[in-house]
Amino acid sequence: MSNQPTIEEIVSLCKRRGFVFPSSEIYGGFAAVYDYGSYGVELENNIKKAWWKYMVQVREDIVGLDSSIFMSPRIWEASGHVGGFSDPLAECKKCHARLRVDHLLEEAGVMADEKMSEEEINKLFSENKAKIKCPTCGAQDFSDVKKFNLLVKSNLGNFTEDWNKEPVYLRGETCQGIYVNFKNVLDSSRVKIPFGIAQVGKAFRNEITARQFIFRTREFEQMEMQYFTNPADEMTAYEKLREYRWNFYLAELGFKAENLKWHQHENLVFYAKEAYDIEFNYPFGFKELEGVHARGDYDLTQHTKFSGKELSYTDPFTNEKYIPHIIESSVGVGRTVLAAICDAYTQEETAGGEKRVVLKFKPSLAPVKVAVFPLMKNKPELVAKAKEIFDVLKMEFMCEFDDNGNVGKRYRRQDEIGTPYCVTVDFESLEDGAVTVRDRDTMTQERIKIAELQKYFGEKLK
Ligand code: GAP
Repeated sequence: MSNQPTIEEIVSLCKRRGFVFPSSEIYGGFAAVYDYGSYGVELENNIKKAWWKYMVQVREDIVGLDSSIFMSPRIWEASGHVGGFSDPLAECKKCHARLRVDHLLEEAGVMADEKMSEEEINKLFSENKAKIKCPTCGAQDFSDVKKFNLLVKSNLGNFTEDWNKEPVYLRGETCQGIYVNFKNVLDSSRVKIPFGIAQVGKAFRNEITARQFIFRTREFEQMEMQYFTNPADEMTAYEKLREYRWNFYLAELGFKAENLKWHQHENLVFYAKEAYDIEFNYPFGFKELEGVHARGDYDLTQHTKFSGKELSYTDPFTNEKYIPHIIESSVGVGRTVLAAICDAYTQEETAGGEKRVVLKFKPSLAPVKVAVFPLMKNKPELVAKAKEIFDVLKMEFMCEFDDNGNVGKRYRRQDEIGTPYCVTVDFESLEDGAVTVRDRDTMTQERIKIAELQKYFGEKLK
């Protein structure tokens, strides 16, 4: 039985079990935006918690930040987003689908460089048109390619005075808030170079084609860490960061090594020293999960130029003065949620010949850690005992009380949510003070004394 799910199976499971819903569904949906349901939000939070612990809490050299979504529009000019943050767009003349030309070229085995001008990409596109079909209708007739800016514009301020004077933008990436707070952090905390600033927050992009579920959305969350180094130490720090980030997926999220690989960028932007992506084996192939990039002094130099404020650093021991070089780790929460679900997704046949789908999450990621059932819902004494156990365990672990359907059905449901342990209270429990604990992965069951459950789960879920 194949354990590589299709994207349709993942979308269906996410909707059916309350992980992810299409946004504004009762109004016919809203393209490329998604809502997270009760289990989705638990999974998201567990991922963000693991990231924060790994990137901030256990690191003496990294501090946190929560910068605003609205920022001065000058920031987006300095960063190059106003002038150059664009994707090449063409329209299918038959079905009018709007298509990312670099993606169409890539699928046809032709690499497009993101620095290419509109003229250059038009030339490359027309040279390869014979190999390209519209993914929606199969036609081969396309409009000219236009570069389409991805920044999302908004209005802010007093309607009569400020609107339309100049656009403000919803932030296109969270790291710009980090760069512009570099001096504030330096002056207010006890950090010295090398040090990092980390933040988790929303970003917004006018993505052209957003077809791959929560892989590419117009509103998404990023977990970014920018590490400020002496120019001489940039590449050593970069190699360390690459190794550190790779281990995050294996050790902290429990992903399978075969689902991850490195991809080195061949066409670097002019300021970058080196750029690698960690790719995950999604149902539609290996695609970027995270970027780990060495950005040189570009960011702080640009913000110095545009703000007029010097963003250099003077080493307190050597008096050496320099613009710090930055290495970054940047990953989307949604892409990690999707990777976690795909990595955990397992289809099995039980000894009894029954098929089951189970999300074998690392317990720390599982949305629910323990589900508590009374064997029968119409036996008040069983329900009362199960509630009593639930009320104790819920103070320590994310728990769920479930008395719907029969126990077999509850197991199937909890398997699809990825709950590591189920506790069943039966008639014997009322006599011997013990319950049946069922393990999600092995499906083995053991009797555990009710008084020992907290200790038992404390150890199992450590
Ligand atoms: N600060 C660098 C930066 O933002 P990026 O490659 O554009 O670089 C970094 O984005 C990460 O953010 C990606 O690796 C991906 O995980 C996530 N990401 C980017 N665009 C996304 C989108 N439209 N939807 C979901 N996640 C996205």
